[in-house]
Amino acid sequence: MEDEAPQDDSRRDWDWDDAYVGDGSETTPLDEQLLADVLGLVPGRALDLGCGAGGNAIGLAQRGWQVTGIDISTKAIASARQSADSAGIDIFFEVADVTTWEPHDEYDLVLSSYALPPQGSQRVAALAVARNALAPGGILVVGEFDATAMSWGKRSDFVTLEEMIKAVEGLEAIRIESVATKPHDHGDHGSTPNHGELRAVIAVARRPVA
Ligand SMILES: C[S@@+](CC[C@H](N)C(=O)[O-])C[C@H]1O[C@@H](n2cnc3c(N)ncnc32)[C@H](O)[C@@H]1O
Repeated sequence: MEDEAPQDDSRRDWDWDDAYVGDGSETTPLDEQLLADVLGLVPGRALDLGCGAGGNAIGLAQRGWQVTGIDISTKAIASARQSADSAGIDIFFEVADVTTWEPHDEYDLVLSSYALPPQGSQRVAALAVARNALAPGGILVVGEFDATAMSWGKRSDFVTLEEMIKAVEGLEAIRIESVATKPHDHGDHGSTPNHGELRAVIAVARRPVA
């Protein structure tokens, strides 16, 4: 009997454009829980991978960061651009796939805010792009819902603490924890479901300087 091919859930069975209107109305404020460790730092170059409607990118730019935001959804980037323009903020936004994107620069902050592809080869690729984009001394911040506490969705869409500890091996860990979190607000368009305690795994780690 032939071996079964290894399962790879990386490909989503929906289009991210369906999650956005594209008019800026989904843009929400910066996530202070996720970005707590970097808000006091001297601002530098920041990369937001899977930036969605641009709330974190805009919040970082308002705090002095020079921000690049990447998202696979044309509508998400349209929203992000519209909101940045309305706020009078200059951010480089690009429609691109974070699993194959090649950085134009190296970054002092690389962020993935609830934007990792599902477990499998696409997630591995996205995490490699994120790590490779870090400047020496740069900080990686990854936040994703904790699979062990989810009452909805597919487990492979989320992460475990153990997975994130492995994902930042070789970097200097600053904070890796599973914490209670709130449902995500989608601006004028409701929020993520909340059928019980919602938890997030937050991993913050620094690329060694040498
Ligand atoms: C749950 S939303 C989070 C958006 C934003 N980071 C935030 O925290 O509000 C996930 C985002 O990741 C983007 N995304 C998913 N897979 C992607 C990929 N392979 N390349 C680029 N963006 C991707 C989606 O289009 C979506 O905007």
